[in-house]
Amino acid sequence: MLDASTLQTAIANAHQQLVRAFCERFPEWTLPAFDGLMALPPRRQWQAVNDYWLARKHGVLTLKLKELGTLPADQRPSRGAALNRFKAEVEAVLSQLEAQLRAFEEAETIRREAVDVTLPGLVRRRGRAHPLTQIRERIEDIFVAMGYAVEDGPEVDTVFYNFDALNIPPNHPARDLTDTFYIDDELALRSQTSNVQIHAMQRRKPPLRIIAPGRVFRRDEPDATHNPMFFQVEGLNVAPGISMADLKGTLQVFLTKLFERPVTLRFRPSYFPFVEPGAETDFQCPFCEGAGCRICKHTGWIELGGSGMVHPNVLRACGIDPTEFSGFAFGFGIDRMAALLYGIDDIRLYYENDLRFLSQF
Ligand code: DAH
Repeated sequence: MLDASTLQTAIANAHQQLVRAFCERFPEWTLPAFDGLMALPPRRQWQAVNDYWLARKHGVLTLKLKELGTLPADQRPSRGAALNRFKAEVEAVLSQLEAQLRAFEEAETIRREAVDVTLPGLVRRRGRAHPLTQIRERIEDIFVAMGYAVEDGPEVDTVFYNFDALNIPPNHPARDLTDTFYIDDELALRSQTSNVQIHAMQRRKPPLRIIAPGRVFRRDEPDATHNPMFFQVEGLNVAPGISMADLKGTLQVFLTKLFERPVTLRFRPSYFPFVEPGAETDFQCPFCEGAGCRICKHTGWIELGGSGMVHPNVLRACGIDPTEFSGFAFGFGIDRMAALLYGIDDIRLYYENDLRFLSQF
């Protein structure tokens, strides 16, 4: 391929040959000096040679052709013919150089614009949903498919919604300063999503089927299984004739869909002020099918969360007649569920914003 210096040499040599030819044919004329030709890049060099000979005002041949008029009349025709012949030669040389120049420039453009497909590419780092968001969305999808609406609720709420309406008596430890973050006497960060039950029942008339995923806050020391802020999902189903059997069936369908394999449930009697009866809900470990493994701590069962039949006092606090309606409620932690599904053994990892962790999901 033609390179710049070969082309420069070719143009400079062509010019020198023209100079020599001119001096031989027109020995009585001296040519103006022309230095620095090699220092120019090829296109400008070609232009300079072109101008030297042919420029409209000061080109050597333009001036010489003009001078013809000052010659004696008998010399003019032969001189004129010789000059014009020489001019045609100059033009031929320049146009041939110009063709080479074009080829050179075209090759340069191709070289400059070439893409080396063997170079490593620029990796575009794509974002994705946080693992907790991914699991929350899966949970929402399953409940929405069962006819539940997704409710949002306040993270800062009054003592009424946080406690009183949930039948949590003033002496209950959940109300304690060591358990709850208070803003003032009236307002606190919610320690559970159960407050949304009350908001939902006040806003809508039963029948009512909602889940309320969201952030909750507790005065917990952070460790592998605790964090002062974490996520829960609350569920509430209020309609005439709702029973514990509906609760069990609903959670069973939910867990079976979430773990994509049949899941067995069990209830253990438990106390939560806002339900009666209340139950701790466990499900058979889907990883070992109850045989016992590291994940279920060799018990065969995993704790889901609390649940039960909505307490009549709670229904009454929301203006719902407990002789006409009954309902079930449940609540569980999203962090723990995500930890199970992803095999994470320290929930603090969710909140450290370490991309090495987050980009695995
Ligand atoms: N709010 C309870 C907690 O944070 C969980 C819970 C228990 C929710 C029983 C409920 C329920 O809706 O009926 O531990």
